Amino acid sequence: MPKHLYIETVGCQMNVLDSEMVVADLRKRGYELARDLAAADVILFNTCSVREQAENKTYSALGRLRSFKKQHPEKIIGVMGCMAQKDQQLVFNRAPYVDLVVGPGQLARIPDLIDEVTAGKGQQMAVSMGRKDGPIAEIKRSHETFDPLRDPTMRPTPFQAYLRIQIGCDKFCTYCIVPMTRGPEQGRPPEQILAEARVLADQGCKEITLIGQTVNSYKHTSGGKTTRLSDLLHALHEIDGIQRLKFVTNFPKDMTDDLLVAVRDLPKCSSYLHVPAQSGSNDVLARMKRGYTVEDYREMFGRIKATIPAAAVTSDFIVGFSGETDDDFQKTYDLVAECRFKNSFIFKYSERPGTKGAELYADDIPFEVKNRRNNDLLELQNRISEQDSQRFLGQRVEVLVEGASDRAKTRGEDAGDIIQLTGRTNDDRIVVFDGNPRLIGEIIPIAIYDVSPHTLFGAVVTQEVGCDSGLPLQIA
Ligand code: 5AD
Ligand code: SF4
Repeated sequence: MPKHLYIETVGCQMNVLDSEMVVADLRKRGYELARDLAAADVILFNTCSVREQAENKTYSALGRLRSFKKQHPEKIIGVMGCMAQKDQQLVFNRAPYVDLVVGPGQLARIPDLIDEVTAGKGQQMAVSMGRKDGPIAEIKRSHETFDPLRDPTMRPTPFQAYLRIQIGCDKFCTYCIVPMTRGPEQGRPPEQILAEARVLADQGCKEITLIGQTVNSYKHTSGGKTTRLSDLLHALHEIDGIQRLKFVTNFPKDMTDDLLVAVRDLPKCSSYLHVPAQSGSNDVLARMKRGYTVEDYREMFGRIKATIPAAAVTSDFIVGFSGETDDDFQKTYDLVAECRFKNSFIFKYSERPGTKGAELYADDIPFEVKNRRNNDLLELQNRISEQDSQRFLGQRVEVLVEGASDRAKTRGEDAGDIIQLTGRTNDDRIVVFDGNPRLIGEIIPIAIYDVSPHTLFGAVVTQEVGCDSGLPLQIA
């Protein structure tokens, strides 16, 4: 009898990939995926610690399992990911019926730990060393990248994949818990990355998104040779079958010219660049310990636009960081108005125990002020995004078709019919259009006839007949 696994994932792309890897690993050992808790033998929560709200949600979800576990003591409940690493024993204290706590650097141990619990050995915990718990080499070893053989059936779409090129982070922005939960920055050896990319291409993957906390800081030195992200992109570009290469998330100070030139010159490289500014105020940036000024950010932004005029740049901002004045916020607002990002992800500051920010600065901006700044910035960004999208009206874009749109899914549109599909352009714009599900996984031209701030609406172009508007004459 196969065992069944139910897994819930929150958080960033790293977590999505970690879950994919854990599922693939357990499937190799005979597990199958369960659709719900009732059918599961093992229940895993892959957790996030970046903001308090994410943790609260996980603890509430665990709380709801209290009586469930009483009724089904044989079911194994595990907490993995950043919150497991951060809270460790606290997870057991708050939810004593949890069987497993596994940090992101220890995921390879999950199958063995499940066996230990099954063998009646009690609660199991596997976490990595803290950043000050010993010699750096030992700490690094305790944060292991977990990238076993890929299984295309484990991805939401087999033709797209994340590929980890780096783990950890050494930037220590004062608000951020990631350097603590994911450990020191470590670039994976290029030959491993290339081998994995070739496996993905053989499996029919067309689009690879390279991921790392500061992906453009990637460096790997062996035999006296240093490989940078730009070198990796050149090598990956040679792989047949791979048609698109993206990479997230970039750190502003490491946006070097060799990388921009590679993006400009390599046709498979997406011109979508996510480069979080976090704030437009030098005082705030200094307290965040971001290591650059707003002038530095502007200079970098100018270089991106000068090298890759069509670049679609997106950013993250934190509003209401400790001590942020109205004037500081205005500077952030001005930066967004000036750079006209394709999109910005805006977050209200959430104090994280264990960070320098929590130790040094009070979380002193009232919730209402954080909320107002969040809404003001969001409103500005939405206006910019909408104007930016307008450029695409009447244009033709190349779209990698990802699958049924949310509308098609909720309406249960039949896979045999023409349904509403969704996909993305090479610069990561979401496009919605009607088409046959057999188009899923294909890269096809779409003519755009309507736009909203974050979505382009279009129709499949099936024939080219002289038509000035560029609008489609037939719909597939
Ligand atoms: N509070 C709010 N937002 C945060 N981020 C990281 N840490 C915090 C925090 N403590 C945001 C940053 C980062 C994004 C992934 O999450 O903007 O770029
Ligand atoms: Fe966190 Fe800063 Fe590292 Fe990004 S660069 S993961 S915000 S510490």
